[in-house]
Parts: sequence; structure tokens; C-alpha cells
Amino acid sequence: MTLGAPRVHYRVVDSTNARARELAERGAPHGTLVTAAEQTAGRGRQGRSWSAPPGQALLCSLLLRDPPNLLPLATGVAVAGLIGEQATLKWPNDVLLDGRKVAGILAEGRPGEGWAVVGIGINVAMRDADFSPELSGKAAGLGLSPSEIEPTLARLLKELASWVSARDEEVLSAVRARDALLGRQVRWGGGQGKAAGVDERGRLLVRSGGDQLALQAGEVHLA
Ligand code: BTN
Repeated sequence: MTLGAPRVHYRVVDSTNARARELAERGAPHGTLVTAAEQTAGRGRQGRSWSAPPGQALLCSLLLRDPPNLLPLATGVAVAGLIGEQATLKWPNDVLLDGRKVAGILAEGRPGEGWAVVGIGINVAMRDADFSPELSGKAAGLGLSPSEIEPTLARLLKELASWVSARDEEVLSAVRARDALLGRQVRWGGGQGKAAGVDERGRLLVRSGGDQLALQAGEVHLA
């Protein structure tokens, strides 16, 4: 299934996710892609912002109609796939290289209306000096040049085309194979425990004080 057409590209935009959502509400077709060289109000998970120096990152949002339930995880697997075997996943969908975040994913949707927008930011050409002091040591780039952003997008769309239509079991087994949290001590809003994998619904399993919990959404941190 073709993804990435029609495509709207902005030199500067507030947020590609915001534009893609607007297009979704106006009836744009499955596979519509919004890209930008620069965002002035890039959105991250948990209400955070997402910033990248102009022209250094792949910034894109894809509209999917009838998206799979595991879309956020499938997208993480697709991004990891384009990076290579060394990429790992920090549940639910941070993509890590050597333990540092190289890509973020923000899936937003209207399940009732049958669509989702998945926004992806990949630090294709960012160097360590491009990250703010708070992100230093926690974020990384792919070490590529800005001219690699477009070819990276082409590879990403190919990976996405196969992972968004993959069976849940295939997505889950790919997530498990790249699980950066497995066996690690983690904390979240409600407590802390040891990460014990991902269940059949894509929830993070955590062992805590003799109990096993399944975290549905939200943020976990390495303790
Ligand atoms: C995260 O917090 O890790 C998710 C970050 C998602 C950032 C991307 S950049 C392209 C798209 N447009 C946005 O406003 N956000 C996503």
C-alpha cells in the first residue's frame, strides 16, 4: 500500500502533526504525508515540545485511515528497522542508539473517525553540540549529512508500509527483540519495578513487590 502521497512539504511550519490532523479532518486520503525542514511548535509526547535545528532532522507526519491498534509500536519497529540491528526500543516507542534517543514518535488520532496521524522526528544529521544541555548524553544523531534526510524518508516509508500492515504478533515479536527495558529497573508515575517485556496488547509488563502490572500508556524512566 503506497504511503507518502499526496505530500505537502513546508520550509517552516508550526507542527507537521498539527497540519496532518487538519488534512485528516478535511478528508485527505490514507497515506497523506506532511514534511517540514523546520518546526516552530513541534510536539512531543506527554505534552512536551520537540525541537530540532532547521534542516538537520527528518520531521514528518503520516495520515493513516483504519490504523492498526499497535500503530505506535509498529512505527517504532519501522524506524528501528531503517536504522539497523543496533537500534533498540524504549517502550512505548522511543528509538535508541547506544542507549541514546535518536527518534521520537507521536501518534495522535480519532479512533471514532477511523484515522490516526503518526508523527516521526529522526535526528538524521544532528551532532552532539546540537542538543540542549538537558538532552546532552540522552539524545544522539544518526551521524548522517542533511542530504541523507530525503533518502532516509524513502526508507522509512518502505519500512512503515510493511509494518503498519503486519500482524500484531509480528510487530510484538519485533518489539520484544529490540526491547531496551527488559530486565531493567524502571520507574513511572505510579511506582517502580523491573521491566518484564511487552504483553499481547503491547502493554509494558513490570514486576513490582511480587505483583506483575501491565502499563498501558505513559512514560517510564530507567530508575
Ligand atoms: C516524543 O516525545 O518522543 C515524540 C516526538 C515526535 C516529534 C515529531 S517531529 C514531526 C512530528 N510533528 C510534531 O509536532 N511532532 C512529531
